[in-house]
Amino acid sequence: MKKDYKLPSLNDARARNKEVSQKLTFILDDRFKGIGEGKKYYIITHGCQANQRDSETMAGILDALSYTPCENEKQADVIIINTCAVRQGAEEKVLGEVGALKRMKTNNPDLIICIAGCMAQEEATVKLIMEKYRQVDIVFGTHNITSLPKLLYEVYTTKQRKIEVFSKMGEIIESVPVTRFMSHKAWVNIMYGCDKFCTYCIVPYTRGKERSRAREDIIYEVEELVAQGYKEVCLLGQNVNAYGKDISDEYGFGDLLDDVAKTGIKRIRFMTSHPWDFNDRMIEAIRNNSNIMPYIHLPIQSGNTGILKKMNRRYTREEYLELFDKLKRELPGFAFTTDIIVGFPNESDEAFEDTMSAVEHCQYDNAFTFIYSKREGTPAASFEDSIDRKTKEERLQRLNERVAYYANLNNQKFRDKIVEVLVDGISKRNSKVYSGYTPENKLVNFTGSDVKVGDLVKVKIKEVMSFSLNGELVEE
Ligand code: SAH
Ligand code: SF4
Ligand code: F3S
Repeated sequence: MKKDYKLPSLNDARARNKEVSQKLTFILDDRFKGIGEGKKYYIITHGCQANQRDSETMAGILDALSYTPCENEKQADVIIINTCAVRQGAEEKVLGEVGALKRMKTNNPDLIICIAGCMAQEEATVKLIMEKYRQVDIVFGTHNITSLPKLLYEVYTTKQRKIEVFSKMGEIIESVPVTRFMSHKAWVNIMYGCDKFCTYCIVPYTRGKERSRAREDIIYEVEELVAQGYKEVCLLGQNVNAYGKDISDEYGFGDLLDDVAKTGIKRIRFMTSHPWDFNDRMIEAIRNNSNIMPYIHLPIQSGNTGILKKMNRRYTREEYLELFDKLKRELPGFAFTTDIIVGFPNESDEAFEDTMSAVEHCQYDNAFTFIYSKREGTPAASFEDSIDRKTKEERLQRLNERVAYYANLNNQKFRDKIVEVLVDGISKRNSKVYSGYTPENKLVNFTGSDVKVGDLVKVKIKEVMSFSLNGELVEE
């Protein structure tokens, strides 16, 4: 069968140049305005915060086209699944979801089903969707979000399936509409893409070149959020420490932190700091600004230098631990979390024990742990691996037990203490039960009354678990 569509290419997505990325301004074409009149949309989001923020952009665009959001898939005229490709499990979940939507499409042929996000950047996935998942109407990539109005318009007018996925390095598009899903906490992109090319990871291929937004655009966005009453921003990038390096040598992440702090926003978080380039300027900014939260996520991935080298992580075990100890020393009271991969190709027992001993050393507040998942198109996909699945699962379990032990140990210091909580939610079962996070990013469930989402309240901690704290509201 002749293909009348162009597949993306992970191979093309590998390309990088040294040029500063182009900045474009989004303009909504008059032709598309009002195409969503009377129609409803529903967005399902998988993956990381970058995807959450992208879904808010998609919602903003759909709102600008006069669509309205709805509560579930069943009421929707347009469903978007914003996908993640970081591990096999995430992909299988999405394919299951798309499979389940087939019946809805049969019952309602006017329903438009879209696949977006990182899976849309993979040629094999797109081929599979085009051939086997005929219920999907639109596939658009991470570089093609602003084409959504055009793609919807074309599907309505031609009744044909549309695919638009560019495998390019990517540019920076400003002034895109956004409908944020929360009214007290906001995701703020400070940079896009990744140039680190860790050998196991698909992200540099699905998200393109590392490129920083102009500082004025970031500061303006945060100032607007402050004016709208937002309490917290989380500055997003795959390696925030690399912020600005693609633009000039003069202004880096430490400088940006200082400037964001000056906006007066109550809480600043950032994700993710690669241990590479965590410099003194950053430490200084973090220490000097009380609205930068005492919490650092510092992925180690492995505690073994040989494995780290095969992962292309650019640091040794010793370098990581040295940085970690320095941060602990210079930033007292901070919470530290990490990411760990077990079962990287041919990870020996000794190598895994090095990861365990690094966990004993760092005593993290929490760790996100994963079994290595082979990603086609990445260098590690061709590495030999003689370690069986059962061994990997046993390692993961042993690791998780130690992670939970230290998580619990770290939480003990909060017992009977009064902490500040930014309220996120009210329990569905009991309107006097609330939840939120402390500055150290500890989840707190607490009882009280007259509390609203977005309030900053004081809570006395009564009970301590490994991954959450329980307490009572302190009336002021
Ligand atoms: N930019 C971030 C990570 C983004 S992906 C950083 O470098 O820290 C989030 C986490 O998913 C990674 O830290 C890693 O632990 C995990 N991960 C990425 N690719 C993976 C793979 N192929 N298999 C298993 N875990 C993976
Ligand atoms: Fe993936 Fe490494 Fe980039 Fe993080 S730094 S997104 S793990 S390639
Ligand atoms: Fe997943 Fe893409 Fe984020 S692969 S983790 S959604 S950058």
